[in-house]
Amino acid sequence: MIRARIIGTGSYIPERVLTNFDLEKFLDTNDEWIVTRTGIRERRIAADGEFTSDLATKAARQALAMAGIGPESIDLIIVGTITGDFPWPATACLVQQQLGIKGGIAFDVSAACSGFVYALATATSFIEAGSVKRVLVIGAEVLSRVVDWEDRNSCILFGDGAGAVVLEAQSGENGVISTHLHADGSYWELLYQKGFGSRHPASSKGLDERMPFLKMQGNEVFKVAVRSLSDVALEALEANNLTPRDINLFIPHQANRRILEATAKRIGLDDEQVLINVDRFGNTSGASIPIALDEANRAGRIKAGDVVVLDAFGGGFTWGAALLRW
Ligand code: COA
Repeated sequence: MIRARIIGTGSYIPERVLTNFDLEKFLDTNDEWIVTRTGIRERRIAADGEFTSDLATKAARQALAMAGIGPESIDLIIVGTITGDFPWPATACLVQQQLGIKGGIAFDVSAACSGFVYALATATSFIEAGSVKRVLVIGAEVLSRVVDWEDRNSCILFGDGAGAVVLEAQSGENGVISTHLHADGSYWELLYQKGFGSRHPASSKGLDERMPFLKMQGNEVFKVAVRSLSDVALEALEANNLTPRDINLFIPHQANRRILEATAKRIGLDDEQVLINVDRFGNTSGASIPIALDEANRAGRIKAGDVVVLDAFGGGFTWGAALLRW
């Protein structure tokens, strides 16, 4: 059986650190509130002149270097993002240009914080169908440019970053074993960016109403997130006749610490099985899982044969899990 196996991981985190104490200077909030409710202490902010495609390309270069291959052997690039450089063309096309890749396929996936898992599942289908051999799957976001820095309910949560993996078609038992994707569009209004798409095209009135920024009803998101993240992780385990004990590393979307702890408890996981880095990077949406995966991989936390579960939830609502044998 042909499987999609991860042969390299990479990530890029912008240099500029924005701490909770920095937020206190311009927002009616405080470090203690943010840490208690979210576990977040700081997040990274892209520099002026640094765009989503730049972050994505830097993460991709690292992943290619770890894989020991050149960009020219990549057949397909998929970027999971909701903060692309432009509404169109796809950020994946800009990454392709920056990497100097001629030919192949490039497109973005829009599934908010589930973007990387959606992109990984899509890439896996391409590989298993035999249509491509090597794929760059990237999650990259510059959320700092779409969050409303006057809205303390939401802006404290988010940060910028990118993570990438190189997938290769290999025969054997290691690689992406199964993916499980879901969506429920009835929840779209709980987490979205109001302008400026075709429903609310660009206008100065829209700017006055702060339309181009992220809108969120945090309480409602919280409840559905915990239920969906835990249900889909259990679905992935059941599909493979595994139990929570069989997971060597569980990498959830880094939404906030309370969501992650409640999810882990509902699944039945111990603390040491769960990767949490939300304290340092906040919620980087589609980038959070590949950043965490790269951190774990470089720290030697994953060994060949380990069962790794990636678990995502985001606007739409969308959610999904990928079960990997490393
Ligand atoms: N600093 C200080 N106080 C704040 C604050 C901030 N940054 N943000 C909100 N508050 C206040 C509220 O105004 C409210 O005050 P009030 O009681 O006087 O009205 C109070 O804190 C409680 O607000 P509430 O929204 O009930 O807090 P909460 O416990 O639900 O925590 C979130 C808010 C956003 C942290 C929480 O709902 C959450 O994490 N939701 C999920 C969001 C998420 O992960 N989204 C992305 C999913 S991919």
